[in-house]
Amino acid sequence: MAEEIQISAGSKEEKYKDLLPQVRAVVETETDPIANMANVASMLHETFGFWWTGFYRVLDGELVLGPFQGPLACTRIKKGKGVCGTAWERAATVIVPDVDAFPGHIACSSLSRSEIVVPVQRDGEVIAVLDIDSKDLATFDEVDKKYLEEVVSVL
Ligand code: SME
Repeated sequence: MAEEIQISAGSKEEKYKDLLPQVRAVVETETDPIANMANVASMLHETFGFWWTGFYRVLDGELVLGPFQGPLACTRIKKGKGVCGTAWERAATVIVPDVDAFPGHIACSSLSRSEIVVPVQRDGEVIAVLDIDSKDLATFDEVDKKYLEEVVSVL
């Protein structure tokens, strides 16, 4: 495996297309889920320069903070609470163009303006969520949803 990821300076979609095989290569060679979540958070964060990129794992009926890149974050989120708990409850990706317009949004960082949360599923169960925050409004769209769902499917 190369020591550094190689990403072309193209569109967002081109970057995701460059990143995906490299994510697969990294994850294929490691069985530990926390190690893999740590590298996936790093690869996404470095590629796109997001504000916060990380995982919450489902542990004992709650979401518990897992590997991430970015500022300090809240450690536990209940089912149905915030964007993360909503994505978990619905077992579906949630895109929030403006966090101030999302009822119940949990503001870990006051600088976060938009967000996407993608559930990580195994055997039909949500086992974790990938949460990405941006300092800009409306950063995330269907392109992010499509590729991030592919990214988490390899975990
Ligand atoms: N904003 C999230 C909480 C997690 S932080 O953004 C890292 C939410 O509403 O679930």
